[in-house]
Amino acid sequence: MAFFCLKLYILANLSNHEINNPVGFLTSNLEMLADYRKHCIEILSLQEEITSPHRPSEQERIILIQRLERMKKEVDFDYIQKETASLLEDCLLGANRIRNIVTDLMSFTHAKDIDWQLVDVNKLLQKTVKLAFNEIKFQTTIQWDLNELDLIYSSEGRLGQAFLSLLMNAVHSIRQDGLITLSTRMKQEDDQKIAIIEISDNGHGIAEKDLPFIFEPFYTTKEKGKGTGLGLHMVDNVVNNHSGKIEVNSTLGEGTCFRILLPYKDKQRI
Ligand SMILES: Nc1ncnc2c1ncn2[C@@H]1O[C@H](COP(=O)(O)OP(=O)(O)OP(=O)(O)O)[C@@H](O)[C@H]1O
Ligand SMILES: [Mg+2]
Repeated sequence: MAFFCLKLYILANLSNHEINNPVGFLTSNLEMLADYRKHCIEILSLQEEITSPHRPSEQERIILIQRLERMKKEVDFDYIQKETASLLEDCLLGANRIRNIVTDLMSFTHAKDIDWQLVDVNKLLQKTVKLAFNEIKFQTTIQWDLNELDLIYSSEGRLGQAFLSLLMNAVHSIRQDGLITLSTRMKQEDDQKIAIIEISDNGHGIAEKDLPFIFEPFYTTKEKGKGTGLGLHMVDNVVNNHSGKIEVNSTLGEGTCFRILLPYKDKQRI
């Protein structure tokens, strides 16, 4: 159940811009192409009439040619010829973009038992940023501080979703001149080796009174319709499934840092 919600959560968040954007321009390009096709067919049938074996009289032919020239001018036929190629090129780009997003999404949401494997967390973070690229505002800088990590036995799909959720929260907290830092390092604590992953931002921060509730399901400070309040609850579940810990430091007006601590284990199961 929790995982089903996770899928819906991630799809709802991403579908907004990542997929709706290319779908938007694909639709409007296709509408324009349908219009251009109609004009081309009108022009073609007029041309066929002119060159028909039941040739019209010379007089009729001149009138048809004049009509054809007028029609070409009215619909701007030269422009249509050039524009069609670029509209089709954009459609292909849009379709490819959707295909790539869906492929990335599938690799995040197809988390089953077999999804537990040795994972390169640094690469997973990079993939997460790539996936959320359109959501990351132009004025936001991503700063990387990735250090060498051993591969960790983990659910790549679920961990990716958790990173994405934290990244989205960071993006949403930023007003202007945003800075999001993603950092990783390894630490040895007694006999236990731990991977530490931090996602921090210089956004609006979290009020002290809200901090105790942020991991509660459906707790959100976003305006109605903007947030489900499920993101951090899901992150918490994912971290628990990995026998890990999540910590948060936040200062109102200055920013927030979420820290995930994942212990290295030989094998882990949900
Ligand atoms: N990086 C952050 N900066 C500031 N506030 C945050 C940050 N991350 C979480 N919060 C606060 O915690 C609340 C709960 O976050 P959570 O991700 O669970 O839900 P949401 O972001 O509101 O909704 P959704 O995840 O569906 O978009 C947010 O509404 C916000 O108040
Ligand atoms: Mg969220």
